[in-house]
Amino acid sequence: MPIKVVVTDFIEPDLVRETEELGSKGIDFAFHQLKFQSPETVIEATREADVVVVNMVPITEQVIQGWTRCKLVIRHGTGYDNVDTRSLTQAGIPLCYIPDYCTEEVAEQAISLVMACGRRLQRSSRVLKDSSARGEWDFSEITPIYRMAGRTLGILGCGRIGSRVYLKLKNFGFRFLICDPYLTEARKQELGIETVDKEQLFRESDFISIHTLLTEETRNIVNRETLALMKPTAYLINTARGPLLDPLALAEAIKAGKLAGAAIDVYGKEPPESTYPLFGLPDVILTPHISWYSEDSGWRIREIILLEIQRFTQGLPPRFVVNPEVLPTERKG
Ligand SMILES: NC(=O)c1ccc[n+]([C@@H]2O[C@H](COP(=O)([O-])OP(=O)(O)OC[C@H]3O[C@@H](n4cnc5c(N)ncnc54)[C@H](O)[C@@H]3O)[C@@H](O)[C@H]2O)c1
Repeated sequence: MPIKVVVTDFIEPDLVRETEELGSKGIDFAFHQLKFQSPETVIEATREADVVVVNMVPITEQVIQGWTRCKLVIRHGTGYDNVDTRSLTQAGIPLCYIPDYCTEEVAEQAISLVMACGRRLQRSSRVLKDSSARGEWDFSEITPIYRMAGRTLGILGCGRIGSRVYLKLKNFGFRFLICDPYLTEARKQELGIETVDKEQLFRESDFISIHTLLTEETRNIVNRETLALMKPTAYLINTARGPLLDPLALAEAIKAGKLAGAAIDVYGKEPPESTYPLFGLPDVILTPHISWYSEDSGWRIREIILLEIQRFTQGLPPRFVVNPEVLPTERKG
């Protein structure tokens, strides 16, 4: 019987490339758009799949129990909150995720936001419009701006993305304060860095860019106490995960002049509700959880999913697996 791969839902305009490539390898390939369908419909479509590729469809215990021969789930993306990992593990099915398809993009977005904050770009168009109406320049709304070279950039979390931010900005003249208690000595040596503790990073940075994972330890890591350590001229940039910071405390700190501003791409609830406390503040840039996106990363994730399917057919383990304990010994790599 040929290997059967079923896509539950997808964000690409079409899956022509996947159909051609998998078809040429004799793989039985089917795809659906089941995001808002019932679990019964999802089960019906995926019952006999060997590999299920999922974007947003909830993969619940009920769905997993409906499967007859699934041996791998591939989540199209970095997070996997829509997949019941515990039930999957109980069923002995590995969950593959793809944390590295947009590392460059997120690093580029974080750097853009650092620069936009430092140059106060969000105020620029208003200053131009007002000056134009008045017939003379008035820069009062946009000052003060400080030279970026020589300023201190704090990087909280120095994994894939945090380290790319560091490496890309190395020659911009920043002083770096990097906090990541889990970085190995070997990795620090490789990057040529030393790390500092969280307090020093919050106290001394002019910009803090957050790149930690969301864990019980890091949830709300930006809170009233850590914000109180920051310089009144400092900016906070979060492209990592919404629940890493308390948006109310951040809005209050900015309004009280205890912090210059912020740039945020990620939210506790997405998209944020109209009552989100950082809406409407002149020194806050808000982007719509878009850091991951470029045309290139869109193609890259498709290539990686095809690669993961190929690895599966070759008996190789996924490159990144959430529950490695269920991998058969020969697939552990
Ligand atoms: N906005 C987007 O579109 C987007 C896209 C991809 C990833 N992300 C997010 O970016 C973040 C970073 O992703 P990554 O691929 O670099 O992850 P990663 O696992 O490679 O790096 C995370 C780093 O955080 C460090 N860390 C853990 N606990 C810490 C703590 N208490 N203090 C300081 N550092 C700590 C880890 O040691 C690790 O080095 C994640 O939160 C991820 O969800 C966002």
